[in-house]
Amino acid sequence: MKIDVVTIFPGYFDALELSLLGKAKTRGLIDVQVHDLRDSARDKHRTVDDTPSGGGAGMVMKPEPWGAALDGILSAADGSDHDPLIIFPSPAGDVFTQRMARELATESHLVFGCGRYEGIDQRVFDEYAERGRVRLVSIGDYVLNGGEVASIAMIEAIARLIPGVVGNPESLVEESHEDGLLEYPSYTKPAEWRDRAVPPVLLSGNHAAIESWRREQSIERTRRVRPELLPAELGGERRGRHAAP
Ligand code: ADE
Repeated sequence: MKIDVVTIFPGYFDALELSLLGKAKTRGLIDVQVHDLRDSARDKHRTVDDTPSGGGAGMVMKPEPWGAALDGILSAADGSDHDPLIIFPSPAGDVFTQRMARELATESHLVFGCGRYEGIDQRVFDEYAERGRVRLVSIGDYVLNGGEVASIAMIEAIARLIPGVVGNPESLVEESHEDGLLEYPSYTKPAEWRDRAVPPVLLSGNHAAIESWRREQSIERTRRVRPELLPAELGGERRGRHAAP
C-alpha cells in the first residue's frame, strides 16, 4: 500500500519507523512518503495560513499550498493502477471504526491531508471531491490540535490489517472489535503474583472450557463498558447478526 501524508509537522511521522510499521516499511509492505506542506507555499516565509473570511478567531489553511501539494501527489499517481483516496482527518468527519480500518486496508493508495488551526479552506475539499475520492474522518468525539495524531492512529490501525504486517495473523482475529465485542482479559506467568492468581480455568488445559470462559468474559466486559456494542442476540441493542462496530 502506498501512503502519502501532507503536514506542516513531518516529524510526527517519525513514529512510523518504530516497531511493526517500521518493519513493514523496510519489507516494502507499506510505502510511506511524508510531504511538508510548507514546501508547496509560494512566498519566502512559506506561509500556509491566513485569517478567516468573514472574520472570527484563529487562522485557516490557505488553499494554494494544499492545491500544489495534492496536485503533485495525484499527478505522480496518474497513469498507475492506483486510484488514490484522500482522507482529511477532522472532528467533523465520519467516525473511524475497525470496520472502516478493514475497508481502508483494501485500498492501494491513501493520502492523508493533515489540517491545523481552524481547518483547511473548504474549496480544497470541494476541488478534490469533484476530481476523485475524498473522505473526512474523525477518530473520536474530542478535538486534537491537528490531523497528525489522528492520521498516525488510522495508519497504524489500517496497516496492521495488511497481510504480512502482523507476524501471527491469528492475533488479529481474537482482539477487541474484530467480532464486535471487547477482548477478554489476558494473563501470563507467574501463576500467582502479589496474592493474585491467574484464573484456574486458564491453567486447566481444557481448551473448550478456556474458550467458553473467554467468550463469557468478552460478553460481560462489553455489557459493562460498551453496552451499545452488544448484539441483540446477546441481550444488547445492536441489530444485525454479523454487525461489526
Ligand atoms: N483533528 C482534530 N481533532 C480530530 C479528531 N477528533 N479526529 C480527526 N481529526 C481531528
